[in-house]
Order: sequence, then structure tokens, then C-alpha cells
Amino acid sequence: MFRSTQHQRSPDIERRRLTSALTVAAAAAFTGARWMPSGLAPSVAAQGAPALKELAPPGWLIGVAINQNQSDARDSIAVDLITRQFNSISPENLLKFESVQRQAGVFTFDAQDRYVAFGRDRGMAVIGHTLVWHSQTPAWVWAGGDGVPADRATLLERMRTHITTLVGRYKARIRGWDVVNEALNDDGTLRDSPWRRGIGDDYIAKAFEFAREADPGAELYYNDYNLATRPDKRAGAIRIVKDLQQRGLRIDAVGEQGHWRLNSPSPADIDRTITELRATGVKVMITELDVNLLPPAGPRGEPPPPGSNPYANGLPDDVQQTLARYYADAFRVFLKHRDDITRVTFWGVSDGDSWLNRGRVNHPLLWDRQRQPKPAFGEVVRVLASPPARRAGN
Ligand code: XIL
Repeated sequence: MFRSTQHQRSPDIERRRLTSALTVAAAAAFTGARWMPSGLAPSVAAQGAPALKELAPPGWLIGVAINQNQSDARDSIAVDLITRQFNSISPENLLKFESVQRQAGVFTFDAQDRYVAFGRDRGMAVIGHTLVWHSQTPAWVWAGGDGVPADRATLLERMRTHITTLVGRYKARIRGWDVVNEALNDDGTLRDSPWRRGIGDDYIAKAFEFAREADPGAELYYNDYNLATRPDKRAGAIRIVKDLQQRGLRIDAVGEQGHWRLNSPSPADIDRTITELRATGVKVMITELDVNLLPPAGPRGEPPPPGSNPYANGLPDDVQQTLARYYADAFRVFLKHRDDITRVTFWGVSDGDSWLNRGRVNHPLLWDRQRQPKPAFGEVVRVLASPPARRAGN
């Protein structure tokens, strides 16, 4: 499934040819210059910037979550960036339960079909996100009659219908699905999700079973956050994987969302996380990467406390450089594990697109609000262009 043979087919010669040119280009990004350094190989200069997808190790996907303005091609600058830089897309919201089946039995597929076509037309790996989650799911799903919660049989039927319809529609066109999202508490116990309350702990296994039935060829993933920062939660994810394996169900990879901060997780945390998840036998993906630079927001509904929007007028250079170093360190760890990882997906194209703004001004991604590459982009390019040694034992 993960085409391990591709790992042997190394494009080292091509990469070496590009490396010196790219290092120049990366340095230009660092100083904020436009992408036209002299001495750049024409093939690189013509594209204006090196492409992450071309620098990534064979067998890796470099993905990005896209919104509807992008999948409908209204945001043409972003479309251009997505097309040049990435070889995988995730739908930021379009394939969530509430977007697909807001009312019982009424499925909406127009924008969803365009999202899938957007990726297929560009030869990208199209990802499905997400089938079973406690969030962005309409209340009718869990409701029984007379204000009581739906019983197990009803919930299983609704789950099966949703999964069968959605996964079945995009059979052989969506590469892989986040089958279950965020099923864990930070202490590693199962979250008190309405799915679990109604069905029981085996709701996770059932979701994987239905997904496999609907498209036996699709990769199936478990996806969650804080797996790198909370060892107990990571242990919970490993239990989920082992439980699925013991039941003989398909699971291809665990996604650590990668909503990170400058101080956490550390490179050592990321390293340990990949090693431990991979030891189950499944692959590891970083599925929603961004780096939140803002202090915690105040309580919902209240005006933000003073000082909570420190970068409203731009990111100071020292923080910009710290962010670049954080991304470089993270990618060095990813590359050390390049045979364990199959995909790194950013949660948004540019800072202006990020879900992390929410009324403030955040700077979590590789491109700024003007869609210009940030120093962090240059650093990721530099690290991808000269990968560190593989992890011992590989
Ligand atoms: C976020 C989207 O980016 C927002 O636009 C939306 O309002 C809320 O959801 N974990 C996930 C993603 O799995 O689906 C979430 O996406 C971010 C956290």
C-alpha cells in the first residue's frame, strides 16, 4: 500500500544537482528577497521557488488543507501555490459530517466533488477528513425519539450509512480516510464522545469495518492531536491501533495532527512519538501541521485580554527566525524517520488562511498573508534539500 519499493528508487542525482541552487534560493527566502537569485538553475527559477513536493523523499506526500475558495479555484494565487508546492490535499471542512449530511439522509456532494476533482486533475493524493468525530457533526445524528439519545443499533445504522455513502462515492479516488478523529482524552482514556456513549467502545472498530467494506482499496487512518506532547495519549493511540489489528481490521497509519507551539513538542518528543507509533507496524503521518505563536485566548465570548494579540502588526524578526528554526528542527526529525513517515500535511496554505487566527493575527504557516514565502519556508527547503542521516536501524 505504501509502495515501499519507491524508497529504493532514489533521485539522489537529481537532488544533488538541485541542492546547490536551492541553498541559494533558501538563503534568499531567509532575507525575504523575491525568488530570483542569480545562479539558480533555470528549471527552478522558472517556477519562482523550489517545490516542497519535489524535495521530499520518495514515497512521501507533502500535503495541505484547502478551503472551498481554493477547491473552487476562486482564490487563484493560493491555487497556484497549492498546485506548484503540494502533491496531496486535505479538505479543511468539506468532508466533515455536517458539510456532507446536515440533515438525515440528505447528502450534499457538489463542492465535495469539486474538491476531489481539484486534486485528481492535478495528480494529487486526495485525502478524506473525517468520517467519525464528536465535532462538526449535526445533533440529529445522536438523537433518538422524545429527546433521548439514539440507541446502539440506530447509531450503528447511521454510521454505516454515512460511511458507505461517502467512502463509496469516492471509491478509488480518495487515497485514504481519517476514519476516526480525536477519540482520546489527554490521559489516554477514550473520550466521552456521543458515538461512544451510544455504541460503546467498539464504535472505533465499527467505523474502520464500515470504511473497509465501502472501499477495500482506501488507506484508513486514526487521527488525533497531542500525541507528541502527551505520552499517555500516545499510549492510548497505540492501544487503538493494536485493538484494530487484533480484530483483523485494516489500519494503515496514525496521524499526529501537529498543532504545535514553539516550546512544545521538542524535537526529542517528536522523535520518540514517531518511533513509538511506528513500532505498532503502521506508518506515521503529520496531518495538520501548524505552529501557534499566540498566547492562549481569554474565555470565549469575552474581549481578548491585553497582550493576547502581540503580532497584529507583523511578526518581529526574532520570532520569525525562531519559527523557522522550529520548522527546520521538526523536518530534520521527520527526515530521520523518512521510512516511517508517509505524509506531512500543513493545515492551511498561508497565514491568512489559518484556522488559528480566530479574530487575532497568527503566523503559523510557511507563507505569509501576502502569500510570500517566510524564512520558515526557506529553512524547510534547506533541510529537505540536504537530509540528515536515517535513524539508526533503518
Ligand atoms: C478546523 C478548521 O480548520 C476550521 O475551519 C473549522 O472551523 C474547525 O475545524 N482538528 C481537526 C480539524 O481535525 O478538522 C480542525 O479543522 C482543526 C483541529
